[in-house]
Amino acid sequence: MEKISIADLHERKQHGGKLTMLTAYDYPLATLLDAAGLDIILVGDSLGMVVLGYETTTPVTMEDMLHHAKAVRRGVARALLVADMPFLSFRASTAEAVKHAGRFVQEAGCEAVKIEWKQGIEDTAKAIVDAGIPVMGHVGLTPQTAASEGGFGLRGKEAESAARILAQAVSLQEVGCFAMVLECIPDVLAREITRRLAIPTIGIGSGPWCDGQVLVTYDLLGLFDRFTPSFVKRYADLSRTIREAADAFLRDVKAGVFPGKEHTRTMPPDEFAKFKKGTGSLFPEG
Ligand code: KIV
Repeated sequence: MEKISIADLHERKQHGGKLTMLTAYDYPLATLLDAAGLDIILVGDSLGMVVLGYETTTPVTMEDMLHHAKAVRRGVARALLVADMPFLSFRASTAEAVKHAGRFVQEAGCEAVKIEWKQGIEDTAKAIVDAGIPVMGHVGLTPQTAASEGGFGLRGKEAESAARILAQAVSLQEVGCFAMVLECIPDVLAREITRRLAIPTIGIGSGPWCDGQVLVTYDLLGLFDRFTPSFVKRYADLSRTIREAADAFLRDVKAGVFPGKEHTRTMPPDEFAKFKKGTGSLFPEG
């Protein structure tokens, strides 16, 4: 399978064919998603909620992200690997943002970073792009600031806020972003942004007309039970599978059924005989 490049994503936008992106946070999941043929694997800062157990994504640090991005890198051979810039990593200053984006490339081997829109983000995005690091933009619902912006509901419902989100997407494209995540916006707004932008749009909770789709993998696998957004389709119920496996292990151990003969290794009889003689084993029957 050929390695996916940014040029491939742009070519797909030109000639049709949906893009697929999912999140990964560790080596086994990354290996499975890469083998499945995903175009993009995102080390999302959703890490904070679905893996680290935080209420929101804002506590996630650069060190958290790098630790997981390195593990994901070891499992990804084909997909484009993108890392989410966590909350404070790009908000304090442009120089800090470039330095942090560079760490994802140099230390974790990522090929691009994603940043959520905020007022004035264009300068930051441009500086990262100018430093030679591809940037994916993210507009609509931006989870890092959602709590202070009225929660996790739909964005761009009114004509005015819809026009603002369209302008944000256009301005991020103008400073060199190579793709745009559209999170929780009305389908018709996503369609308009997708039509206006030359770069691919990747939707989450934004309807079918985006150039591609992304979900948080733990949501689609049914591994994150705290809440499930209405736009998520659950493709598996791994929570239940894991719970059933743990219950079965517990039962087997208590009943003395595990480990069985097939899971047990013993000593060669002559060595055991020597051992018994040498130590005065309490198990003369062998
Ligand atoms: O952090 C994340 O998983 C994301 C996706 C929802 C796009 O940003």
